[in-house]
Amino acid sequence: MGVLLLLHAVLVAMAARAPAAHAWGKEGHYMVCKIAESFLTSETSEAVKELLPEWAGGDLAETCSWADAERRRFPWSSDLHFADSHGDDCKFNYARDCHSTDGVKNMCVVGAINNSTAALEDSSCPYNRTESLMFLAHFVGDVHPPLHCGHAEDLGGNTIKVHWYGAQSNLHKVWDTDVIETAITDFYNNSQSTMIEAIKLNITITEEWSNEKKHWQRYHRWARTCADEYATESAQLACQAFEGVEQDSVLEDDYFYAALPVVQKRIAQGGVRLAAILNNVFCRNRELHSS
Ligand SMILES: *[C@@H]1O[C@H](CO)[C@@H](O)[C@H](O)[C@H]1NC(C)=O
Ligand SMILES: *[C@@H]1O[C@H](CO)[C@@H](O)[C@H](O)[C@H]1NC(C)=O
Ligand SMILES: *[C@@H]1O[C@H](CO)[C@@H](O)[C@H](O)[C@H]1NC(C)=O
Ligand SMILES: *[C@@H]1O[C@H](CO)[C@@H](O)[C@H](O)[C@H]1NC(C)=O
Ligand SMILES: *[C@@H]1O[C@H](CO)[C@@H](O)[C@H](O)[C@H]1NC(C)=O
Repeated sequence: MGVLLLLHAVLVAMAARAPAAHAWGKEGHYMVCKIAESFLTSETSEAVKELLPEWAGGDLAETCSWADAERRRFPWSSDLHFADSHGDDCKFNYARDCHSTDGVKNMCVVGAINNSTAALEDSSCPYNRTESLMFLAHFVGDVHPPLHCGHAEDLGGNTIKVHWYGAQSNLHKVWDTDVIETAITDFYNNSQSTMIEAIKLNITITEEWSNEKKHWQRYHRWARTCADEYATESAQLACQAFEGVEQDSVLEDDYFYAALPVVQKRIAQGGVRLAAILNNVFCRNRELHSS
C-alpha cells in the first residue's frame, strides 16, 4: 500500500513536471483555433484581435498553446488542462470528477472553461482579458482529446506505455500528438494547413457533420457552458481508446485508422464550439454596452 501510494505520488509529480504530457500537442491546439477563426462573426473576430497580444500578429491560433508554455507562471493552472474520471462508468460527472489532484473542487478543465468564459463575458472583471481569452481558447481545445478525460488511476493514459509504430510513446500522447503527426506525414503531404483545410471543408460539405454542427454549437446562457457535455463525450471515447490496449502494446495501422476519424472530429468540434462560445460572449458584450 505504502509503495503504491509512493508510486502514485511519484507519477503525479512526474506528470506535473512534464507539462507537454497533458495537452493536445501544439498542432492540435493550433488546428482547433484555426478552425474556430473561420466560424467567428466579423464582429467577434475584431473583438478577439483587439485583445490579442502583439506577438500573435493578429492570429488567435498563434496563442493557443500559450497556456501550456506559461504553466510555470500559473502553477494553479496545471490541474485545469484535463478532467480525469474517478469512476469506471466511462462518464464524466462534474461533482465527482471536477477537482484538482489534491481535491480542490471545480479545478478541472470544465470548471476552467466555465470560469474563463465568465471572466471574458464580464468586461468589468478584474482579470486580464487577454489572458482569459488565451486560457479559454486553450481549455476548449483541451477538453476534446479523449484521454484528457480518461482514468485518474493511469493519469489519463500517461502511464500506459505503448509503441507507436517503432517509437516509444504512451496512450495519452498517442491521442494528443502521434495520430495527428502521423496523419500529417502520411496523408497530408507534411502540411498542417492541408489537414486543417480538409477538416474545415468536411464541416461544411459532409451531410453528417453539417447536421451535427447545430448541436456542437449549442450553448447555454450565462456563465453556464456545455463543457461538461464535451467532457462526457471525451470520457466515453477514452474508454474506447483502451480497447485492446495494454502495457507495451504495439499500435500500428489498425489502431491509427480507427483513431484518426475520431481525432479529426474532436478537432472539428473543438473549433466549432470555441467559435460559438466566442461569438456568444462578444455579441453579449455588445448588448450589454448598448443597453
Ligand atoms: C458554471 O458556473 C455556474 C455558476 O457560475 C454554475 O452554476 C455551473 O454549474 C457551472 N457549470 C459548469 C459546467 O461548471
Ligand atoms: C471558478 O470560480 C469559482 C468561483 O470563483 C472558484 O471557486 C473556482 O475555483 C474556479 N475554478 C477554476 C477552475 O478556475
Ligand atoms: C495582460 O496579459 C498579457 C499577456 O500575458 C500581457 O502582455 C499584458 O501586459 C497584460 N495586461 C495588463 C494590463 O496587465
Ligand atoms: C506536397 O508538398 C510539396 C512541397 O512541400 C509540393 O511541392 C507538392 O506540390 C505537394 N503535393 C501536393 C499533391 O500537394
Ligand atoms: C470527414 O467526415 C467523415 C464522416 O462524415 C469522417 O469519417 C472523416 O474522417 C472526415 N475527414 C476529415 C478530414 O475530417
